[in-house]
Amino acid sequence: MLDLDSSGNLTMSFFTKDDESQEVIFGENICDSQLGGRAKKLGTHAFLVTDSGLSGAGHPDKICKILSDSGLRVTLYDRSIENPTDSSAQTCAEVARRSGIDLIIGLGGGSSMDTAKGCNFLLTNGGRMVDYWGIGKADKPMLPMVAIPTTAGTGSECQSFALISDDETHRKMACGDKKALPCLTILDPVLTLSQPAKVTACTGIDALAHALESAVTNKRNPRSYRHSRIAFQLIQENLPKVFAEPNDLEARGKVLLGASHAGAAIERSMLGAAHSMANPLTADGGIVHGIAVGMVLPAVMEFNSVDPDACSTYAELSRIAGLVEESGDDQEGARELILKVRSLLQLAEIPKTMNACGINHLDIHNLAKDASKQWTAGFNPRTLKIPDFEKLYLKLHNEESCEISSPQGN
Ligand SMILES: [Fe+2]
Repeated sequence: MLDLDSSGNLTMSFFTKDDESQEVIFGENICDSQLGGRAKKLGTHAFLVTDSGLSGAGHPDKICKILSDSGLRVTLYDRSIENPTDSSAQTCAEVARRSGIDLIIGLGGGSSMDTAKGCNFLLTNGGRMVDYWGIGKADKPMLPMVAIPTTAGTGSECQSFALISDDETHRKMACGDKKALPCLTILDPVLTLSQPAKVTACTGIDALAHALESAVTNKRNPRSYRHSRIAFQLIQENLPKVFAEPNDLEARGKVLLGASHAGAAIERSMLGAAHSMANPLTADGGIVHGIAVGMVLPAVMEFNSVDPDACSTYAELSRIAGLVEESGDDQEGARELILKVRSLLQLAEIPKTMNACGINHLDIHNLAKDASKQWTAGFNPRTLKIPDFEKLYLKLHNEESCEISSPQGN
């Protein structure tokens, strides 16, 4: 899948959609060399959606200059917020409407991408985000969008879904439409060097969870599984290298590529119970998404391992990663995969219990009730009812049950 160019840099270009309407290009400094010319073919007035936190790293200024030098008008919108809401997407769309733009560029992490997509829905089709909750509810054409991630995590750059929260209920609405898929995604690992260590850890673990959850959902198919498998392999091999050496550009590039493959897997396969359980921990306990997902992932994988198909898939991933012999049985393979996940969580310093996060006061029954209502719950390979979620949350209360019994190295 990966090539080296004449200078020894990693390069890659692949299409992630069944047709050729999304192009993903990858390479060090590829933004500098490719963005201007390609953006010019897509529009004349770009709306750059990002967050103010990136200004310090200089990324928005750099992108504005590349676009201006190529003859495009640029309007900068740097007010996207973490966990974007309907009202924050409305504000963004109002600015876009007043500016008369014809191209949207999302620069940053998942929140900026989601804000950019949400803005696209509202600007071109009107109404409120709740009108697009679900799949394929935008009737009118949407503007072309370019996605430029600066974190390796959400994979939103390879998805047609905008995750936008309802202002009042805080419930995350997955608003998906093929027309919202970025037509161009630029993966430049140099842009991820500015991530603080904690962000690298949380987003990397989130991407790992995306690979593993999408691999076993009841919607998985050969194409989604191919993306899940590539994602898992790239992330599990390279995330420890990034933790050990944050400036290892090759390892960062591979994690970025892995995160995007995981995003492409989600697009076709959805997610599972770890994300269902994580969302209430974020909404009610304020726990960062990557931490919440990482904390619950091993328990969900243990729960899923009872399903023969999920167990067999975990075992296959385990064999591909060299965690077990080819001849090892599925149970052993699944067990070793979970141990590998625990070791990666330990390297990322993800807390093992709700107590360690200071949220032991949260009501288990309410959390379980909320988890059962999350959209991803329906795609988990094993059906979960509220008592199942309660049991899984209780495991996070009990420190002993979450101990790493046999930590492994990289
Ligand atoms: Fe996630």
